[in-house]
Amino acid sequence: MHHHSRGLYSVTERTGMLFGADYNPEQWPEGSWPEDIRLMQRAGINMVTLGVFSWARLQPSEDRWDFGWLDRILALLHEGGISVCLATPTASPPPWLGHRHPDTLPTDAAGTRQWYGSRNQFSPSSAVYRQAAEQVTSALAVRYGRHPAVVMWHVGNELGQVSHDDETAGSFRNWLLRRYGSLEGLNTAWGTTFWSQAYSQWEEILPPRTAPYLHNPTHVLDFKRFSSGLLLELYTAERDIIRQHSPEVPVTTNLMGFFRGADYFGFADETDLIGNDWYTDPARPGTWEMGALTHDLCRGLARGEPWLLMESAPSAVNWRPHNSAKEPGAMMVDSLSAVARGADGVCFFQFRQSSFGAERFHSAVVPLAGEDTRVFHEASALGARLQELRLLTGEATPSRIAVLFDWDSWWAAESPDGPSDRLGVLDQLQAYYRPLLRRGLSVEVVHPGAPLDRFDLVLVPSLFLLREHHADALADWVHLGGTAVVGPFTGVADDRGHLREGRFPSVLAALVGVTGEEWRPLAVPVALDIVDPDHTGGARPGAPSPAPFEASVWSEDLRLHSPTASTIATFATGSLAGKPAAVRNSHGAGAAWYVGCDAPAALLSHIVGTAVAEAGLASPVVGELPDDVELATRAGYHFLLNHGPETRVVHLTEHSVDLLSGEPHGTRLALRPYDALVLKSGADHTKNESGTP
Ligand code: GAL
Repeated sequence: MHHHSRGLYSVTERTGMLFGADYNPEQWPEGSWPEDIRLMQRAGINMVTLGVFSWARLQPSEDRWDFGWLDRILALLHEGGISVCLATPTASPPPWLGHRHPDTLPTDAAGTRQWYGSRNQFSPSSAVYRQAAEQVTSALAVRYGRHPAVVMWHVGNELGQVSHDDETAGSFRNWLLRRYGSLEGLNTAWGTTFWSQAYSQWEEILPPRTAPYLHNPTHVLDFKRFSSGLLLELYTAERDIIRQHSPEVPVTTNLMGFFRGADYFGFADETDLIGNDWYTDPARPGTWEMGALTHDLCRGLARGEPWLLMESAPSAVNWRPHNSAKEPGAMMVDSLSAVARGADGVCFFQFRQSSFGAERFHSAVVPLAGEDTRVFHEASALGARLQELRLLTGEATPSRIAVLFDWDSWWAAESPDGPSDRLGVLDQLQAYYRPLLRRGLSVEVVHPGAPLDRFDLVLVPSLFLLREHHADALADWVHLGGTAVVGPFTGVADDRGHLREGRFPSVLAALVGVTGEEWRPLAVPVALDIVDPDHTGGARPGAPSPAPFEASVWSEDLRLHSPTASTIATFATGSLAGKPAAVRNSHGAGAAWYVGCDAPAALLSHIVGTAVAEAGLASPVVGELPDDVELATRAGYHFLLNHGPETRVVHLTEHSVDLLSGEPHGTRLALRPYDALVLKSGADHTKNESGTP
């Protein structure tokens, strides 16, 4: 069982909101360390992540160890009142390992070996790598497991490696044997009667290496599952070693949001707290919307409890082709977006800017230009702000709205043999999320197997692969009074990626009251009509549509399947003209919508807005939020954040009081560029501020 909040709370109950940074002291002479600590204190940093890439410094050769420097920096940090998140250095093995044991190095699908000289150069199933990683982990855990400065463990870094080598092939076979029990079971699951792919011995089975044409989709899906499982094994192996020697200290690793290579619901079960890395792209300010969704994924992974933003950039990164710096104020806005959505701390990569190595150009809390800089001043202001928000520490932020997401389904849906590469899983996810974002309603991104009873509204933007019992659980929940919105191309495949026979969405047909017979990816956009804008029940063909809508990528040939179903929108042009494009169905005490196209924003806003109202949820915003403006509510506090350079006007449904200044606000607020307000809304205001407008 996971203990997310307890894991993080064991730290934050002492420190308040965490304010942290990756700190790589091995890059500077020891004489400069006291100055670093002074600057940490000045900025309000209360935790640093140490040792993420220190393997070669800790173990300079196979039989030499050097912990003296780490002893000394830990002592200095402790004296300085800075806590430490201590990392195992296993993300970047030293050159001696790859040189002596080339089989620890990963190979790509074409069989090309990836060499040392960078980082991440290990094959997750290499027994020699694992042994070396466990050895260095154990040495650290024994030595520092009870060190008073160490408050958190950080396993590896952004676990994401994949390899296609022979040793991996062997582990893959073992995994398949456990999954299918026999070669016959495997042949059936993979559908190897197709293209003469039947396997006659286990030794014939390989990772999906470069092949002349399309791979068997179930083979690829299983390799993704297996590879994700290997990463989790690396994590749990190190965690178990750490726990033996450091039983009081929470263990985690830094996730990467919607990273395709690992199923984070599996990680959520094994980590003591959810830690995630998020990098807004300053050149595309709209990326804050993906940031909000990613933070809401973290909230879901943490089951509504607090989580930690483990990495973000103070200003520019170095790894995009064109690395814009953050605008003044954007650091605060980006950081508070995470706090508003449940983060109990904000950490930066990194504390001090490197002058050498591949991240020379990456921003840091302390830039090359030193402490009298915009970035350092803004970081210090953020440090102070985070401590002012200490009262939120430990406050859970459960949401009443769930968005279902499943890595398995993502992997299966984006198979190159599919009907279209334009119905992207994350694009659909964002499209369904946006109407909620625009209404200031936050969500939890959860697995389709999660219990739904604490939610009022469930969105299912796109679940191509959907297990029957998960579909049944959703339908039962709606039947008891829940409200669901289901997107296109959902429920199509089973756990093996086999397409279900019969009219789609098959296992969801009774729930949504509509079925289809053909997916029709669009060559040219088709117009849509809203049939029943007021949702007065039943289709009213011929009702005027308020605005032209278009589907541009996807359509489905649908027909109503139940007397309780009514058409919400129809296709207006093309060969499906007159047929349903979106349908609402009453199902028991609840209701479900099904959308059979890539719905334009206005249609989704209409459907999701109606579903929000039917689910009895109220938005704190009048109408919708303007562009660039985020509103997220945590423990009764509204965070109102302007991610853009324009002044924006927002209308809230209630008066509020500024948490920090005590200044009262009416329902109309003007947000200056990059403003970040924290407001206490409603009841308290009338108590404290009676008589003010
Ligand atoms: C992260 C990584 C860090 C650092 C950072 C730079 O993905 O975990 O080690 O490389 O990016 O933005």
